[in-house]
Amino acid sequence: MPAVVIVGAQWGDEGKGKATDLIADRIDYVVKFNGGNNAGHTVVIGDEKYALHLLPSGILTPGVTPVISNGVVIDPEVLMEELDALDARGIDVSKLVISSHAHVITQYHRTLDRVTERFLGKRQIGTTGRGIGPTYADKINRVGIRIQDIFDEGILRQKVEGALEQKNHLLVKIYNRRAIEVDEVVTELLSYADRLRPMVHDTALLLHQALEDDKVVLFEGGQATMLDVDHGTYPFVTSSNATSGGAATGSGIAPWRLSRVIGIIKAYTTRVGSGPFPTELEDESGEWLRQRGSEFGTTTGRPRRTGWYDAPIARYSARINGVTDFVLTKLDVLTGLEKIPVCVAYEVEGQRVEEIPWSQSDFHHAKPVYEYFPGWEEDISGARSFEDLPDKAQSYVLALEAMSGARMSAIGVGPSRDAIIQRHSLLD
Ligand code: GDP
Ligand code: IMO
Ligand code: MG
Repeated sequence: MPAVVIVGAQWGDEGKGKATDLIADRIDYVVKFNGGNNAGHTVVIGDEKYALHLLPSGILTPGVTPVISNGVVIDPEVLMEELDALDARGIDVSKLVISSHAHVITQYHRTLDRVTERFLGKRQIGTTGRGIGPTYADKINRVGIRIQDIFDEGILRQKVEGALEQKNHLLVKIYNRRAIEVDEVVTELLSYADRLRPMVHDTALLLHQALEDDKVVLFEGGQATMLDVDHGTYPFVTSSNATSGGAATGSGIAPWRLSRVIGIIKAYTTRVGSGPFPTELEDESGEWLRQRGSEFGTTTGRPRRTGWYDAPIARYSARINGVTDFVLTKLDVLTGLEKIPVCVAYEVEGQRVEEIPWSQSDFHHAKPVYEYFPGWEEDISGARSFEDLPDKAQSYVLALEAMSGARMSAIGVGPSRDAIIQRHSLLD
């Protein structure tokens, strides 16, 4: 039985929750394997709208066991708030399982995220300010705090002391901030211990057993391919592996178990924060897309940068992730355009290049080469089969499919859960 991965194919906010929803009634486990509360998933169910940051969107499906695995960084305060908020709305969150190996975001990580960004000035990344980068940096630097440390006061104190010894020098001498007290951090983290304890397990073992028992496990990636720390537009990326390989290392299951890789891709492109974005529109059509697509960040409320569909990015994502199926979202947003530009290649220093250049400087200077496709006027939000779409919308999807490196198995035509056209099953 399948272990399925969902990944963002662009720069995030592709509507990953929508794909989760499509197969939710068939899944037994949903796993968040990377990132932390930098993610923002908006899921609309009937009249209810849920904004999730740390928890995987699969938590909204009754009967599913949500798992936060080792690759995630957890801000315990945010975790408790998010659980309480869902609980208050009648969502059963009692099954949540958390890896003992996941790293903990503390007060000093959040502070460092903000002050380092400020010091970068023009070169700033535009992070979400949630402490993500500094927490992963500590993990790689082997000075991180893990969830299991919260259950051993002696170890916890030792580790926090070790970390703060360095960081307080930085905070005080370089960044001109006050020093952070060891006690303050330790006391706060210990205050979560009793509530956390029953949730913490060896999630790698749990998932291994689930797969051995033929359960369906969905790995829900946060962020996206172009924000991946290895494969994205470094340094304008997040600090984790948001691509499909991250599902294996971020959860401890074997790579060969992943039988399907679903790439979520918008019918146009958006990006939050700094960094290259070849098809970006800084004119009124960019604003039109932003308004029509409600492109404002779920986590920070920032207006998202907007631009046309970029096929080299789609092909790159298809390759890096091994995408078996794309879910094309927000096709409805394009309704009403007379013609729709699609970037089919780039021009770099006068030369046409078909794929993303390996040099970041070249990518910064890449100019999109556009092909234009005829638009449609009809409201498509009620379409539930491919044939329900106007001919021109069908042609647009087929053209994207032909140049994107994998089949377009489902098409989103509106924000609500059921506003989707399914062309091929995402599981069988
Ligand atoms: P995520 O970060 O990938 O989970 O995506 P976000 O939740 O940040 O952003 C996607 C937004 O698009 C959400 O507000 C969804 O409700 C909305 N959305 C998803 N699919 C569609 C679609 O097909 N059409 C429209 N109009 N909105 C959609
Ligand atoms: P979802 O899961 C869009 C961006 C930030 C910034 C960069 C680094 O909703 O698709 P970080 O706080 O992670 O160190 O910021 O990554 N970013 C996202 N952009 N959607 C997200 O998540 C993002 N998570 C991080 O804007 O440019
Ligand atoms: Mg989002």
